[in-house]
Amino acid sequence: MGDATGGAGTVIELDGVEKVFEVRRRAGALRRTRHEVRAVDGISFSVPRGEVVGYIGPNGAGKSTTIKMLTGILNPSAGRIRIDGIDPTRERTRLARRIGVVFGQRTTLWWDLPLRDSYHLVRRMYRIEPARYARNLEACVELLDLGPLLDVPVRQLSLGQRMRGDIAAALLHDPEVLYLDEPTIGLDVVSKTKVRSFLREVNAERGTTVLLTTHDLTDIETLCRRVMVIDHGRLVYDGDLAGLHAVGESERTLVVDFARELPPVELPGARCVRSEGPRQWLAFPASASAAPLVAALADRFPLVDLSVREPAIEDVIARMYGAAEDRRSGA
Ligand SMILES: Nc1ncnc2c1ncn2[C@@H]1O[C@H](COP(=O)(O)OP(=O)(O)OP(=O)(O)O)[C@@H](O)[C@H]1O
Ligand SMILES: [Mg+2]
Repeated sequence: MGDATGGAGTVIELDGVEKVFEVRRRAGALRRTRHEVRAVDGISFSVPRGEVVGYIGPNGAGKSTTIKMLTGILNPSAGRIRIDGIDPTRERTRLARRIGVVFGQRTTLWWDLPLRDSYHLVRRMYRIEPARYARNLEACVELLDLGPLLDVPVRQLSLGQRMRGDIAAALLHDPEVLYLDEPTIGLDVVSKTKVRSFLREVNAERGTTVLLTTHDLTDIETLCRRVMVIDHGRLVYDGDLAGLHAVGESERTLVVDFARELPPVELPGARCVRSEGPRQWLAFPASASAAPLVAALADRFPLVDLSVREPAIEDVIARMYGAAEDRRSGA
């Protein structure tokens, strides 16, 4: 276990962290101008042991840059980072034993090797004790359905199969902290569900602290009680998802197929925003439960099918700004 900051306390700590990239741009035939990109612009937060936190924001907000600093891949330009008391810049190797990382956009596995051999290399790199390795591998294989894939070279795996393979690789050495940078990107619904329930189980069983980046709100909804929103390198929200929905007054949509074409349905707490033949789209506050609405609908109309659509993360954030803007202008 950790040192003074270990135990039940804080695992991830950032204080005034900045990352400035210097980039050169072509300005005419020969001239290059230099300028700075402030990818992360003064971020402070802390995460207690065992928490699962969503780290969301639009493209280019600084999410991956933050994660790279938390793993020691990038050094911060300013500020202080501690993971379990460890400074990632100064003790990257010691940190590596405590953390697991998945970059959904890029595999950390060996392209030409079967999964099984990749895992063997991971075992040797981290000097994982054989019994523990066998136990962890077995759990991952079972929960992530990797059995039939173990002897397939990584390059022959589909995106969803490879992602599950990557997640397993990140967990074989029992990390205390897991960073997931878009672990469900490009996965189909079945694979996403599998990955989510696996992560939930890992967190519950091992108490792993998780920082999760995603563009899929359902990931956040099923996994995170706390969500942080980052934009232009700054933290603009830190709280629960219901709170985020509430600030932005965001809406979910119930897509309903009636047995026949109906005039736009009127119900308390919902409004029809679109209708096409027997299908209607009913918007309702994202902070409310869909259950009473579904019950009221089923009671009054002949239903064939229905599903709930989450708002896009980008929409929720945009609405959050819209609400702040309205407050400022006194609307
Ligand atoms: N190595 C680099 N050199 C220069 N600029 C960089 C570098 N890495 C990132 N940036 C810039 O820093 C900003 C933040 O990038 P980052 O990858 O952290 O965004 P992100 O929040 O992960 O976005 P996405 O949702 O698209 O993955 C962007 O403007 C990006 O162009
Ligand atoms: Mg990114």
